[in-house]
Amino acid sequence: MLPNKNSWAEPYKIKMVELLKMTTAEQRKKALEDAGYNTFLLKSEDVYIDLLTDSGTSAMSDEQWSGMMLGDEAYAGSKNYYNLEKTVQDIYGYKYLVPTHQGRGAENILSQVMIKPGDIVPGNMYFTTTRLHQELAGGDFHDVIVDEAHDSASAYPFKGNIDLNKVEKLVQEYGAARIPYICVAVTVNLAGGQPVSMANLKELRAYTQEKGIKIMLDMTRIAENAYFIQQKEEGYRLKTIAEIVNEICSYTDGGTFSGKKDALVNIGGFLALNDWDVFEEARNMVVVYEGLHTYGGLAGRDMEAMAIGIRESVQDAHMKARIGQVLYLGEQMEAFGIPIVKPIGGHGIFVDAKQFLPHIPQDDFPAQTLAAEIYLDAGIRTMERGIVSAGRKANGENYYPNLELVRFTIPRRVYTQAHMDVIAESTARVYERRKEIKGLKMVYEPKYLRFFQARFQPL
Ligand code: F0G
Repeated sequence: MLPNKNSWAEPYKIKMVELLKMTTAEQRKKALEDAGYNTFLLKSEDVYIDLLTDSGTSAMSDEQWSGMMLGDEAYAGSKNYYNLEKTVQDIYGYKYLVPTHQGRGAENILSQVMIKPGDIVPGNMYFTTTRLHQELAGGDFHDVIVDEAHDSASAYPFKGNIDLNKVEKLVQEYGAARIPYICVAVTVNLAGGQPVSMANLKELRAYTQEKGIKIMLDMTRIAENAYFIQQKEEGYRLKTIAEIVNEICSYTDGGTFSGKKDALVNIGGFLALNDWDVFEEARNMVVVYEGLHTYGGLAGRDMEAMAIGIRESVQDAHMKARIGQVLYLGEQMEAFGIPIVKPIGGHGIFVDAKQFLPHIPQDDFPAQTLAAEIYLDAGIRTMERGIVSAGRKANGENYYPNLELVRFTIPRRVYTQAHMDVIAESTARVYERRKEIKGLKMVYEPKYLRFFQARFQPL
C-alpha cells in the first residue's frame, strides 16, 4: 500500500560530525548552579542538544567552507565585498550594502542615522537588540502587531502582521513627521517565529507611502517568512522562495540583516538600503563602529561564506526541510499535550510557560524556571523569552509581556530527527512533574539586555 504522506528529508548528507559530551544528572545540577540558573551562562561543553538559538549555530555547506578559502583579506575593496553586494542586489533587490559584524551592528547604524530624539518607531512586536538601539538613539518604540500575536493559542496564520489601525492611531497622535520608519520584522521572533503576509505588507506600503513614512525590514529570517507565504497565502503556491523574498523587499526601503540565521553563517550581517542619502550617512558611520565600509567588521572570508549562504537560504528544498524539522518537533510536543505557541513558527518551538507552570506567578520567572528544568532533565539548552527578556522601561518598571515562553530554537542543518524525538520526550518528562516545580528569584541584574547575564536562585 502507498503511504499517504509526502515526507520531507534533508537535501544534503553529513560529511563531518562533532562529538557531544554526555552528562549525568549530578553534573547538570552543578553546572546549572554555577550558571546562576541562566542557560546563557552554561558552558556549551555541558550541553547535549543546544537549542539556545538558531543564531550563528548553523552548519555551513562544503561550498561555504570552500568559499572561506577564497577570502580576499584586503583592508579595502575586497572582492568578497563585491560578491556580497551583487548577491544582496540579486536576491533582495536592494541597491546599497553596508556590511556589519552582525545584525545589531546594522541596527545601531540605522537607528543613529534615521531616528532623532523624540521620534516614534512603530514595530511588529519588539526584538531585544532592535528596540534597545531605537531607544538609545532617542526613539520611542510602539508595538503595532495584530492582537492575535499576543495570544499563544490563536491559530491566525499571519500573527506577524501589522495592525494598520494601530499605525493610524500613532500617526493621528504624533504626526507622520515624527515617524522616521516602521520597523517590520519577517518573521517575528518573539511572537514565535510568526510570518507577515504579503497582503499586509502591500497594504502597509500603500498607507505609508501616502504619509511619507518609510518601511525598514528586520530581514533576519526573511526566507522563512517567504516559505510561510508560499504555503499559506493565496496566489503564492507556485512561486519560488527566491521570488517571494524579492517581492517582500520590493515593498520596503531597506533592511537590517543578521546573517547568522537565514544565511547559514556563524558571523555576519548588513544594512541594505535604497536611498542614496541614508546610505551615504550609514556608510560614513560604519567606519566609526564596525570597520571600513567594504568590510564592516568582517573578514573577506566571512563575507564570501555569507554570500554563498544567502543563495542557499532561498532554495525551496532547503526551506522545506528546515521548517519541516521544526514542525516535526512541534507535532511531537503537541502529541504529549505540551502547551506550545501555535501556529508552529519558522525557527523553533515556543513552549507556553504560563500554561505549563500556571502556579508560578510572572514575578517568579516561570519561563526562566522552565528553561532551567529542561536543562536538568537531559542537558537540552533552551532560552527564556518572557519577563526577563522583556527587561525594564526607561522609568525602571518591568515590562510585563503577555507571552511568557521558552524557546526551543532549531539550528539549521545541525540536528537529526532522532534528536527531535529526544527533545520532545525530555520535555514531556518535565511536564509530567510540573506541579513540583518552584520559581526563581533574581539575585543579579545587569543594566542592559539583562537576560544574557542575570543570575537566579531557586525559591
Ligand atoms: N533581529 C532579530 C529578529 C533577531 O532574532 C536577532 C538576533 C537580531 C535582530 C540581532 O542580530 O544577533 O546578529 O546581532 N537574534 C538572536 C536570537 C540573538 O537568538 O534570536 P544579531
